[in-house]
Amino acid sequence: MAGNAPVVIAIDGPSASGKGTVAKRVAQRLGFHYLDSGALYRLVGLAAERARIQTADEPQVARLAEALDVRFEGDEIYLNQELVTDVIRSEQAGVAASEVATLGAVRQALFKRQRAFREPPGLVADGRDMGSVVFTDAALKIYLTAEPEERARRRYKQLIAKGMGANMAALLQDIQARDERDSGRAVAPLQKSSDAHLLDTTNLSVDEAVEQVLARYAAATQVS
Ligand code: DC
Repeated sequence: MAGNAPVVIAIDGPSASGKGTVAKRVAQRLGFHYLDSGALYRLVGLAAERARIQTADEPQVARLAEALDVRFEGDEIYLNQELVTDVIRSEQAGVAASEVATLGAVRQALFKRQRAFREPPGLVADGRDMGSVVFTDAALKIYLTAEPEERARRRYKQLIAKGMGANMAALLQDIQARDERDSGRAVAPLQKSSDAHLLDTTNLSVDEAVEQVLARYAAATQVS
């Protein structure tokens, strides 16, 4: 990417680590754009379900991903003009997302779409491979994580707050299964790259995590 391309902060990490909340807040604080790349995979999973296409059918799912009619409007997300902001947050949609995310052709189809979010004055991108694949020249790469039990607790609170049903034991199992699938897949597996800063938020509040990212960003971009 050219030297004067808008700056990127890449925040990667496992499911329910809180990286979405932290990334969004960091973007607000800096006045940057925000990319929730997981939402794109969730949308592809939902689109496949709606079109009755098996999540393992690589060519067909990739075609869907290519043609995905999606609109981000503030906090709302529309798929084919339908408001799906909450629908894509269900555990079922998360599982479908994690399945379609194993397909190389789908990742390829979403690549350009993700890079298009890189607009001035800058971008905070959250996902699994933002620093390792999509924005390899990010000014700051964070690997944000937390213990699985803490992540299950956070997801539980989130779902209950949205009025959705939730079961702690099932959520923990789901998170562990998703970790395995996301880290074990052949294409762009979830892993901390050597140039990413580790941020373990198990014992941190959202505010503390946001401050830590901002401090690391300030340090990373300081003119020496
Ligand atoms: O962050 P999330 O839980 O909304 O992501 C949903 C799924 O999408 C997750 O299981 C892994 C996949 N994903 C990915 O493979 N690469 C990304 N950059 C973002 C998400």
